[in-house]
Amino acid sequence: MKYNPKAADAGASLPGFTQVHPAAPATCTQGWLELLVELEEALCEITGMQAATLQPAAGAAGELTGLLLMRAYHDANGESERRRRVIIPDSAHGTNPASVTLSGYEVATVGTNARGGVDLDALRALLDDDVAGIMLTNPSTLGLFEEDIVKIAEAVHDVGGLLYYDGANLNAILGIVRPGDMGFDIVHLNVHKTFATPHGGGGPGAGPVAVCAKLAPFLPGPRPTRGEAGYELAMPEHSIGRVHSWHGNAVVLLRAWMYLRLNGGDGLKRVSEIAVLNANWFKERLRGAYDIAYDRPVMHECVVSAKSLHHEVGLSALDVAKRLMELGFHPPTVYFPLIVEEALMVEPTETESPQTLAALADAFLQVARESREAGNADDAKAAPRTTPVGRLDEARAARKLVVTFDQRRPD
Ligand SMILES: Cc1ncc(COP(=O)(O)O)c(C=O)c1O
Repeated sequence: MKYNPKAADAGASLPGFTQVHPAAPATCTQGWLELLVELEEALCEITGMQAATLQPAAGAAGELTGLLLMRAYHDANGESERRRRVIIPDSAHGTNPASVTLSGYEVATVGTNARGGVDLDALRALLDDDVAGIMLTNPSTLGLFEEDIVKIAEAVHDVGGLLYYDGANLNAILGIVRPGDMGFDIVHLNVHKTFATPHGGGGPGAGPVAVCAKLAPFLPGPRPTRGEAGYELAMPEHSIGRVHSWHGNAVVLLRAWMYLRLNGGDGLKRVSEIAVLNANWFKERLRGAYDIAYDRPVMHECVVSAKSLHHEVGLSALDVAKRLMELGFHPPTVYFPLIVEEALMVEPTETESPQTLAALADAFLQVARESREAGNADDAKAAPRTTPVGRLDEARAARKLVVTFDQRRPD
């Protein structure tokens, strides 16, 4: 996960922002509203969309909001009853099918082709007038750019469906290509991943949703807008209502605004270029020692596989990750995307130095080498031996959650 600039934290801690009560009238909060409007405009420019809501609390909340907007649109066209299915690829992030189900739609899964993209023939076979839309992330969770996106957009629009863009991987394409120009109608952004708030730290996030013009009247509200007498709050004409109290997680939004200001347009493009360069460099360093799931240039992340190691010496992706911990590294995501056997996903981001990346690649290579040379994987299988606890029974931990853990008690 990337490092976030301290300057954004400093800005987000200024009392002029933090000591404003969210219920204060618009006339007393012009600065905050101006910032939110500017952020919305910047996010629309980055995504190629027309209007946005800043309310959703995280990526998954953005997904649900986006799907409720999809439903509201079909409802307004009198097609809600008929359009029941939302298509998602089998490489999708787990929140996608969960959000589809939560929003009352049925999941229809489309397979992946040999190049790691959506199988276009399989997609065409699924498309019918009962399809509400498709959810894609581009680049996909395999770190691959969807080469057929324009054909996909045409095919989905031809049957009256909408295209939803899961923007959690937007940091691969900032300033280079826009979801709106690819044909997407709805986009959520993980601003806590892309723009200056740590992801996965347990703190609040924000998942603004930007939409094309025809969906703008359905956006959640009240929305901060430019009025004749200054900034004000307005409810879109056919709003689906609130999806968060007040203005959403405002301080996360403030950090995003600062990040955008600090980088500017050129800076954002450079962020993506470096993230993509790092991921490709890393993938090439691992070539030969690990399998490369889909062998073509990647975007901001790469998925390699311990499949051969597993077959040769019994070393699993989990063993690799645990041994990396002993070698001083935070372990990568394992076993995701689900369609890659023994998957290890690495997202170097734009903030890791070449030295750190080289050290991580060396550690990966060491784990593979020592297991192959010794002809067994016993060392890695015993890892981690340098941490306060070793391998945990994760299933038991999830089912028998002890929220008042006491080290002195054995159970
Ligand atoms: C592709 C993708 N979609 C959705 C999400 C969900 O975002 P959040 O964790 O903010 O709910 C993530 C999280 O990383 C993701 O990677």
